[in-house]
Amino acid sequence: TADDGYRLWLKYERIPNATVRASYSKSFSFIATSGNSDILNNAAKELQTGLNAMLGRQIPIVKTPVSNQHGIILTMSAIAGPGDGYAIQMQGANTVITASKDAGVLYGSFALLRHLQQHLPLEKAVGQSSPKIQLRMLNHWDNPEGTIERGYAGSSLWKWYELPETVDPRYTDYARANASIGINGTVVNNVNASARFLTAEYLPKVAALAGVFRKYGIKTYLSIHFAAPKTLGGLKTSDPLDPEVRKWWAEKTKEIYRTIPDFGGFLVKANSEGEPGPQDYGRTHADGANMLAEALAPFNGVVIWRAFVYKADPAADRFKAAYEEFAPLDGKFAKNVIVQVKNGPIDFQPREPFSPLFGNMPGTPLGMEFQLTQEYMGFATHWVYEAPLFKECLDADTYVNGKGSTVARIIDGSLHQYPLTCIAGVANTGSDRNWTGHPMAQANWYAFGRLAWDHTLSPEAIAQEWTQLTLTTESKDVAAISDIMLRSREIYVNYNTPLGLSRPWTGSHYAPEPWQNRSSRPDWTAIYYHRADTLGLGFDRTATGSNALQQYRPEVRRAWENAETCPLPYLLWFHHIPWAQKLSSGRNLWDELCHRFYTGPDSVLWMQKQWAGVRASVDPATHTDVSGRLVKQYNEALWWRDAWVLYLQTFSRKPIPAPYPKPG
Ligand code: GCU
Repeated sequence: TADDGYRLWLKYERIPNATVRASYSKSFSFIATSGNSDILNNAAKELQTGLNAMLGRQIPIVKTPVSNQHGIILTMSAIAGPGDGYAIQMQGANTVITASKDAGVLYGSFALLRHLQQHLPLEKAVGQSSPKIQLRMLNHWDNPEGTIERGYAGSSLWKWYELPETVDPRYTDYARANASIGINGTVVNNVNASARFLTAEYLPKVAALAGVFRKYGIKTYLSIHFAAPKTLGGLKTSDPLDPEVRKWWAEKTKEIYRTIPDFGGFLVKANSEGEPGPQDYGRTHADGANMLAEALAPFNGVVIWRAFVYKADPAADRFKAAYEEFAPLDGKFAKNVIVQVKNGPIDFQPREPFSPLFGNMPGTPLGMEFQLTQEYMGFATHWVYEAPLFKECLDADTYVNGKGSTVARIIDGSLHQYPLTCIAGVANTGSDRNWTGHPMAQANWYAFGRLAWDHTLSPEAIAQEWTQLTLTTESKDVAAISDIMLRSREIYVNYNTPLGLSRPWTGSHYAPEPWQNRSSRPDWTAIYYHRADTLGLGFDRTATGSNALQQYRPEVRRAWENAETCPLPYLLWFHHIPWAQKLSSGRNLWDELCHRFYTGPDSVLWMQKQWAGVRASVDPATHTDVSGRLVKQYNEALWWRDAWVLYLQTFSRKPIPAPYPKPG
């Protein structure tokens, strides 16, 4: 039957090879668990569902191991490594999954299933694994009326109007999918938050979701509207230092915990893009965060305070804004506050240098915010595998404590000994049957979870694993599909924002608009970012320009500040380059731009060819769906190419170099 994508990477297809099936069958005659928690029961149930389907037989769940038979034993006891880790061992011929917490047993069960879905020898499943980051979260930008900010896969998964009485079974499948990749927290509503979620009407709805998620080890969080004391509480102010305001938040927090006893905490967007915040009252981000932290502390809740801020200052460089506002506050935040930083200094562009905040707040836990939804990467039409983007940032060296001070080591807490660690992905899910709109975008959700657990995994390994779980186990086709995935981001960059260009859009963030020069704010135009003129292209952020490079350590600065040696992917992020200047590629700037704008769409033709070659082993409905999207992607890549080339040509006044044809 045609696959509709609903089962994601949890397909549990019957194993075609009889020998493999027989060898697994011998080892799995029962699943034993003392089963004294919902999470343990769900671990056993998932193993049963998976094994029954893969092996084509019924495997019972029992309380104690059956003698003379071989099976899986789920047990809890202290294992090495913190928190959510698990161990898989062979004891005699039994497979034993052990963890200190029941959630660890669940993660170990999913790890075993993942292993079997790839038809690997059972003994190779033996080992131990612990997550490197404590809070591994999805951030949903979902609104109360069901829309999703920057969502391209339908409407919200949460049916607020029918909750709490009706609990859609899909919430359970959502929780299973997350637990299977180790995600243990979810913020259910938009950072541009409606105060409604804090009302007595909505809290029971949120509690109903939390009731489902809890059984899979997932805590529920809410984005809050900072001015809620005024809008909801009827107070005259929302000043975080006002005693009445503090009391209001303390009471509200108590009410939340009465409704949701294991509530995770608050995510806050404040004084950013028009949202209210402590600065409305002359207070700092720390004042605001600490007020909420005080309310949450009795319940072990956390405040996740976002650093996505930038002021409407025409003379300023938006690149520098977050650092300027937050770095001086280092060490001023309460113990249960995490400052969540987007990977780059601007806003989820197809390629950005890492945010200079990483490394510059050693006294404040910094969390990572990645965006899974493809706001700037072709929505659900363009195929972009994001793991290379995530990895590029995680592996970037900040040099704050000398060589090897990677962004990953900052957010996993090992560099500055953070007591709290956090990584968030802005979700790409929605009500579409296949969850993510573009079937291949499921891989971005998957890769995020896998990297949140272990940031040392490679994009290649994750691509192969996901492909095997989701599309096919045919090894040559796995290789062909992962090859497309691994190149897809660079291909998109080539036709969209090559050489360090950024943000050629206005509102929708989809269509090419590099000429866009009018807005209520200069930093909401496209020309602010690329700075094209008759002399050249790019934003000078060296000492002769905005000097944003000053926010990085000398080693990083040195790598980027010299236009001759700056790596080409970052060139126009930091330099205004003359059109005729020769680059390290041997071509001048104009020719190199054209080269990339033209090879981009050509590479989409390559993706189409490569994808056509795997038709035999991929589910027909999925294959047809992706083929159609690749046709559109090609047409739109041409559209991007032509828009950029024709627009920039009005400044460069140079011909399109051979062998490329004229646009259009
Ligand atoms: C981007 C995005 C907004 C979002 C904002 C944020 O600017 O376009 O829709 O609200 O990021 O992260 O807060």
